[in-house]
Amino acid sequence: MPGPFRARHFFFKPKFLLAEKFLMTSKKFKKNILCIGAGYVGGPTMTIIANKCPDYKVTVVDISAERIDAWNSDKLPIFEPGLLERVLSVRGKNLFFSTEIDLGIDEADIIFVSVNTPTKMFGEGAGKAVDLQFIEQTARRIKNNSKSNKIVVEKSTLPVRAAEALATILHSGDNSVEFEILSNPEFMAEGTGVSDMENPDRILIGSKDTKSGVAARDVLMDIYLHWVPKERLITTNLWSSELSKLVANAVLAQRISSINTIASLCEVTEADVTEVSRAIGLDSRIGPKFLNAGPGFGGSCFRKDILNLVYLCEYYQLNEVAAFWEQVVSINDYQMERYVKRILQAMFNTLVGKKLAVFGFAFKPDTGDTRDAPAIYICKRLLEEKACLKITDPYALDNARKDLQLTEGKKEFLEDPYEAVEGVHAIALITEWSSYKNLDYQKIFEKMEKPAFIFDGRNCLDHQTLYEIGFNVYPVGKPELSHL
Ligand code: NAD
Ligand code: UGA
Repeated sequence: MPGPFRARHFFFKPKFLLAEKFLMTSKKFKKNILCIGAGYVGGPTMTIIANKCPDYKVTVVDISAERIDAWNSDKLPIFEPGLLERVLSVRGKNLFFSTEIDLGIDEADIIFVSVNTPTKMFGEGAGKAVDLQFIEQTARRIKNNSKSNKIVVEKSTLPVRAAEALATILHSGDNSVEFEILSNPEFMAEGTGVSDMENPDRILIGSKDTKSGVAARDVLMDIYLHWVPKERLITTNLWSSELSKLVANAVLAQRISSINTIASLCEVTEADVTEVSRAIGLDSRIGPKFLNAGPGFGGSCFRKDILNLVYLCEYYQLNEVAAFWEQVVSINDYQMERYVKRILQAMFNTLVGKKLAVFGFAFKPDTGDTRDAPAIYICKRLLEEKACLKITDPYALDNARKDLQLTEGKKEFLEDPYEAVEGVHAIALITEWSSYKNLDYQKIFEKMEKPAFIFDGRNCLDHQTLYEIGFNVYPVGKPELSHL
C-alpha cells in the first residue's frame, strides 16, 4: 500500500540480529546511548535516563553549539522544574553534552533521534505536513558514520510509517551495517517534564515483530526497567506506536477545544464552565483532566501534531476524518479571537492608546517556552487595535521579546507585575502562573486607571474578591462581574 512516507523498496534486512550484536560499548559502561537533538525533549529525557541508569553512558549532541554550551553551563537552555539539579548530579559522570555528532554516532549502541519536526511551511503539504528535513539529515549522518550495528529510536514525533523511510535511508547503498528501528514517542508535558518522565503513565515501544525487532525492543526495555514498572511498558507494532503519539495529542487538544466551545455557550446563558467541567469530569468515563477552559491551547506540538494527522487523513482521502480533526484547531483559533473580542467589547469597543498589562506569556506555567503560545496571537491582535502592552512573565520575557520583535506597536517587557500594572486600564491574564494568584490586588487596583478591568483567561483568580475590590471581572465561560 503506498503512503506519503513509504519508500519504494522498503524492507528490513531479513538477517536476524541478536541483542548482543548491538553491544559495542566502552569498557566502563554497559552501553553507549546517543541522543541527537538537545532540545526540550532530548535534554530532559536523557538526563533522566542518565540519572536512573548509572551503568549507561549517555551523550546528547546537537548542531547548535550555543545549545550545547548552555547544557554544559549552570544556565540550562530550558527552564523545567527539577531539571538543573538532576543535570548537575550526573553531568561529566555518565551524561555528556557535545557537538561531536559523528564521533557520538560511531561510538553509540543505541541512538535516540530527538530533532525537531515542525510543520512544513513550503511546497507540498505546506501548513500541515511535517517538515522531515531534520530527520532525513540525521538519518544520513547516522548511516555515514556507523561502522557497527545500531538501534535507532524515534523519539521525535513523526508521521505514521515514517520508520519505513528511515530504514530505507539507513540501509541504502553499499552498507553492511544493520540498523533496527524502534518507535518510542515521548509523552511528557513541559513544566511537569521531570515528574512525567520519572513516573510515566506508560512507556510505549513500537517495533517490528521480527526476531531482531524484538531483540532491539528488549534492549530498550532494559533501560526503562531501571525505574519504570514492567506493567507500564507497552509494546506495539511500529505504526501503532507512531500513530498513538499523534492521536494522544489530538485527543487531549480535542478535550480542550470541546470545553472551550461550551465556555462560549456559558457566557451567554449564565452557566458556569468550571461547574460544568466538574460535573461532567466526575463521570469516571470522562475524567477531570484537560477540561479547563482558557484562551486556547498553545505549545509546540498540539497544533503541529493535529495538522499532521489532518494531512495524513487527506493523503489517504479520508476527508471527513480530516475535517473532524481540523475543527479542533479551528475552534482554538476562534477561542483566542473570542478572548480578544471580549476585551474589546468590554472596554467600550476601542483600545486605541489604552494600556494593558499582560500577565503571562509562556504557553503554560512553569516553562519559559512560548512556542505557539496563545499570548503571541492575543498580543499581536491587541497591538493591532493600538493598545499599549506591558508584558510580564517570570521566565518567558526573552522569548516574548523575540516573538513580538517584528510586530509594530507600543510594548514593554517588565519582570515585576506591580510595575507592569502602573497606570494600566486592564489586566489580561493569559498564563496561570501560581505567583499571580497571590498578588496584592488591592494594591494593584490602586495603581490602575479606572474603570479597572481584569480578563482572567484561565479562571485562576478569586473573582468575587476582585469584584469587591472594584474591578470589572471577565472570566472565561462565566458571566462577568461588572460595576458598569
Ligand atoms: P527542539 O526544537 O527544542 O529541539 C530539537 C533540537 O534538535 C534542536 O536543538 C536542534 O538544533 C536539533 N537538531 C535539528 N536538526 C539536527 C541535526 N540534523 N543534528 C543534530 N541536531 C539537530 O524540539 P523539542 O521540543 O525537543 O521536540 C523534539 C521532538 O519531540 C519533536 O518531534 C516534538 O514533536 C517531540 N516532542 C516534544 C515535546 C515537548 O514537550 N517539547 C514533547 C513530546 C514530544
Ligand atoms: C502536551 C501533552 O500534554 C504531552 O503529553 C505531549 O508529550 C506534549 O504535548 C508534546 O507532544 O509536545 P505540553 O504541550 O507540554 O504537553 O503541555 P499541556 O499541559 O498538554 O498543555 C498544552 C496547552 O493546553 C497549554 O497551552 C495549556 O494551557 C492548555 N490547556 C491544558 C488548557 O487550555 N486546558 C487544559 O485543561 C489543559
